[in-house]
Order: sequence, then structure tokens, then C-alpha cells
Amino acid sequence: MAEDLFKAAKAAMAKCHAPYSHYPVGAAIRTKAGNIHAGCNIEIASYPEGWCAETTAIGHMVMAGEVEIAEVLVLAQKRAKATPCGGCRQRLAEFASTETPVHLCDADGVVKTMSLGALFPAAFDMET
Ligand code: THU
Repeated sequence: MAEDLFKAAKAAMAKCHAPYSHYPVGAAIRTKAGNIHAGCNIEIASYPEGWCAETTAIGHMVMAGEVEIAEVLVLAQKRAKATPCGGCRQRLAEFASTETPVHLCDADGVVKTMSLGALFPAAFDMET
């Protein structure tokens, strides 16, 4: 089921611009409409100004006119079961729900699936 997301994240990871960390990451989002948007991490010489693969994927999704995430997959070349960083958990929470599955991977595919709520409990929300 998540095989297409894995393929999209892997292809995105191959496009990473990570000359400083040498830590390639890919992410893929399936929207509620069924479309897939992927992204890689992008680093720049002013290190804190670079951004994560999940953030690139979210940018592609929003620019495609979509704002509802159904499923997320994250893949890091050098680490199995890499999870989204804290900032990306907050960004994903903007467009997803606590039930949204987040797939964690190794080089061969999905090895663990967690809900966004389990990964990011008590998310900041101005309405609560
Ligand atoms: N990175 C991501 O792309 N996603 C995350 O959730 C964690 C970290 C990237 C940022 C940086 O380019 C590299 O991994 C090392 O931190």
C-alpha cells in the first residue's frame, strides 16, 4: 500500500542537496485526494537556513492546491526508522490529524508505522 510512497520518497532522496551533513532524506505525502507529493532535504552554506525533506514535500503539496494529508512516509539513507524532526512534526500537524499514519523506513521499505499523534502528542494548536 505504501510502496508507491516509498518509491516517491526514494526518488526524492536521490535529489537531496546535502553537501554539509551528507545525510540524504526523502519524504512523501499522500493527500486525501490520492495524490503524492515528495521532497528532499535542501542545505545551504548558512546551515540553519536549510530545510527538511518533509518541508519540501509540504511545499509541493500546497502549491498543487492541496492541504489535507492522508499518509506520510520518511526515509533517511543512513538511518533506519528515521522520524520527522520536531519542526516538521508541527508542520505535518498543520495539514494532518492525530490519526494520520507516518511510515518509517529502512533501505528496503516501511518497517514501522506510527500515528502523528503518537509522534507528536500535545501539538501546539491555537484553538485548544
Ligand atoms: N532532515 C530532514 O530532511 N528531515 C528530518 O525530519 C530530520 C532532518 C535533514 C535536515 C538536514 O539536511 C539533514 O537531515 C541532517 O540533519
